[in-house]
Amino acid sequence: MNFLSLIEAKREGKILPPEQIREFIRGFTAGKIPDYQMAALLMAIYFRGLNAAETAALTLAMRDSGDVLKFPKDSRPLVDKHSTGGIGDKVSLPLAPLLACLGFRVPMISGRGLGITGGTLDKLDSIPGFKTLLPAAQIIRQVQKIGCVICGQTDKMVPADKKIYALRDASGTVPSIPLIVASILSKKLAESLDALILDVKFGRAAFMQTQADARKLAQAMVALGKKCGVNTRAILTDMNAPLGRVAGNWLEVKESVECLETGRADLLVSQTAPQRGPTDLRQLVVDSAAHLLVQTKKSKSLAAARRLAENCLNSGGPRQKWDEMLVAQGADLKAFNQKLALDATAKIVVEVKAEKAGFISQCDARIIGEVIRDLGGGRLTKESAINYNVGVDQIAKPGERVEKSGMLCRLHAANPAQAKTAAARLKTAFEISARKISVRPLIQEIIG
Ligand code: URA
Repeated sequence: MNFLSLIEAKREGKILPPEQIREFIRGFTAGKIPDYQMAALLMAIYFRGLNAAETAALTLAMRDSGDVLKFPKDSRPLVDKHSTGGIGDKVSLPLAPLLACLGFRVPMISGRGLGITGGTLDKLDSIPGFKTLLPAAQIIRQVQKIGCVICGQTDKMVPADKKIYALRDASGTVPSIPLIVASILSKKLAESLDALILDVKFGRAAFMQTQADARKLAQAMVALGKKCGVNTRAILTDMNAPLGRVAGNWLEVKESVECLETGRADLLVSQTAPQRGPTDLRQLVVDSAAHLLVQTKKSKSLAAARRLAENCLNSGGPRQKWDEMLVAQGADLKAFNQKLALDATAKIVVEVKAEKAGFISQCDARIIGEVIRDLGGGRLTKESAINYNVGVDQIAKPGERVEKSGMLCRLHAANPAQAKTAAARLKTAFEISARKISVRPLIQEIIG
């Protein structure tokens, strides 16, 4: 096959035949096509796009570039959730054990953070002893035995995506809907799922800045997921403010455990007390589980499914399942529980205070994400080392009342100089107005 003609064809806006896309991906994965040719094709796709058939061919070719997880037959459906990423988005952590307790099998293959958005694996790496790199056989064994696993892609899973993603990152071709669809779905399809819920975020700190763009991405993923035999649904959620009241790797693990423990209805109604369970996080966890219950026909209506999921979360079962998962993946539970009991693990903790009284009208998740990344809690390059202890907690959320000198958030930093710069920048994330604003619902749309 002449790869140059394929690049030229896409450059001219022609439609590529599926077998040629497959061959290109096979050749690139095997090292037979140089990076510069793949980068040229990616740029041609960025400008010219791919139609549904081409996107399907690319996705399946990428999935088939490596191993696909094969699970034994079982009455428990295989399900997963994928989020396009945001600040404070720790939904996967409480969701996996909740789903296992609801009778699902959850092979949750997750990623690392890059830029301002956090990665599930980075959060889990802050747990003493916890292993996120597991061989396929262990992933399958653990899912069959305890119902859930959260780990990274093995070297043999979807290798084409690893190579292509690195090139996209270096060639300015990340924000292309067909390339994003193929990248996300190739990995999810390699889990052999029955159902998938997608959390497509939009807003200041999201990949997709507008709800309209998020809708386009969600529609493309839902259509392709269904075409590939996976019952796929998407929710569009607001990512202008952080999810929950904390952001930063270890702090998010703590809040996730809190979400598994604060199962009391009296805590759910409070919007104002920062030390209580985060209602928006719980809502997203419960709703993600509820959609999967409906998608797999375990529940007839979303309302009934929500009740089922909420009751299960409140039962304490998912908290125990979380411990089981930790132990199965090598965590030192005693050290973990000792760490959980600490108020902070960073050297410096500073309160960021309001300069006037009023109502929070904005809490900019992008600024908070940038501050955490610059504190060392995120990566500027794939090789950057992470400081798991830094972050922000007790975040005041839009719509809440704050008094003059009242707390906007607490900053966890590695040293006083860092803390000083970060605290000044964090203040700019908050806007305070005299009148209470109405807060838009977190979940804006359901697609599929
Ligand atoms: N997440 C992925 O896995 N791939 C993309 O292209 C974008 C987000």
